[in-house]
Amino acid sequence: MTKNQLTITRPDDWHLHLRDGEALTSVAPFTARQFGRAIIMPNLNPPVTTVIQAVEYLDEILAAVDGYDFEPLMTLYLTDNTSPDEIIAARKSCFIKGLKLYPAGATTNSDAGVTDIRLCDAALDEMQKAGLPLLIHGEVTTPEVDVFDREKVFIDKILEPLTHRFPDLKIVFEHITTKEAADFVIQSGKNIAATITPQHLLLNRNALFQGGLQPHNYCLPVLKRDIHQQALLKVIRSGNNKFFLGTDSAPHSKHKKESACGCAGIFSAHAAIEIYTSIFEQQDALDKLEAFASFNGPDFYGLPRNSTSITLHKTNWQIPDDYPLGNDKLVPFLAGTTLNWELADADKTPL
Ligand code: DOR
Ligand code: ZN
Repeated sequence: MTKNQLTITRPDDWHLHLRDGEALTSVAPFTARQFGRAIIMPNLNPPVTTVIQAVEYLDEILAAVDGYDFEPLMTLYLTDNTSPDEIIAARKSCFIKGLKLYPAGATTNSDAGVTDIRLCDAALDEMQKAGLPLLIHGEVTTPEVDVFDREKVFIDKILEPLTHRFPDLKIVFEHITTKEAADFVIQSGKNIAATITPQHLLLNRNALFQGGLQPHNYCLPVLKRDIHQQALLKVIRSGNNKFFLGTDSAPHSKHKKESACGCAGIFSAHAAIEIYTSIFEQQDALDKLEAFASFNGPDFYGLPRNSTSITLHKTNWQIPDDYPLGNDKLVPFLAGTTLNWELADADKTPL
């Protein structure tokens, strides 16, 4: 290993949106060429709420990544009506690795989400027994709450009480964006961990308005103040093993992002590990990258670490302005900018 080359255990993406149909075929190879596994979000339309639907979705993903050594880790979408029997079926399936909690109305395709977490107590009890993690989109949806405070209020009103009712439930607090969320996870027991996206490490809310409205930097939870960005950077520099890589890469077509009511979601799968690598390098924390990207996630989920590796080279390359998305186009995160790390043998166009 030299300063210009880095070899690490193959990483996994613990939070990913792949969509279905043509969009899936367009985006899945980007993830499969760098990651060994990914936790697949179930917020399709209609959502993946049953084991039977998850099997169908798994088959569709496997067809889209044919030729790659890539394992999709499936999740179910928790609803007010998810039964304990469905949780038992999920546990027995062995390929379902968690249930996703979307507070109803919090984000893309969350209308069928949970209206009151107490309605899920029987399912959560079964998950706690089964050791099946709850993956949380941690924002309240109360319209009166300021959009920048929704994560903090969620911790106080929903998450903290939940951890008292289910002290052994495994929880992944997804895509954390605030100092409060980082502190909450650090102070919690071993059963509570968090994922961090590249955009929340690299940007703060100024990036939404720099030189005009920037729809391609809009995601949920929305970017926060600089002090929160700094808190997340401090977390990754610390090497705390409760935090791991989860891109939240979420493809939307260019015209749906650049519209009067633009969709939330940032597509980062085209260069995810390269972007994280340059962030860790900027933080003088390259020695912490491998644990964050390749060890902490599988250790938390109770899965083996990957046995293959990837190599990155210090080379400048320019991120394209767009990529195909079915018959449409998508604008990738950091479009048109130059990255200084490149995955070896990387073919930037999917097969
Ligand atoms: O920005 C986001 N996009 N946040 C989410 O929680 C969902 C995602 C999507 O599915 O597009
Ligand atoms: Zn997401």
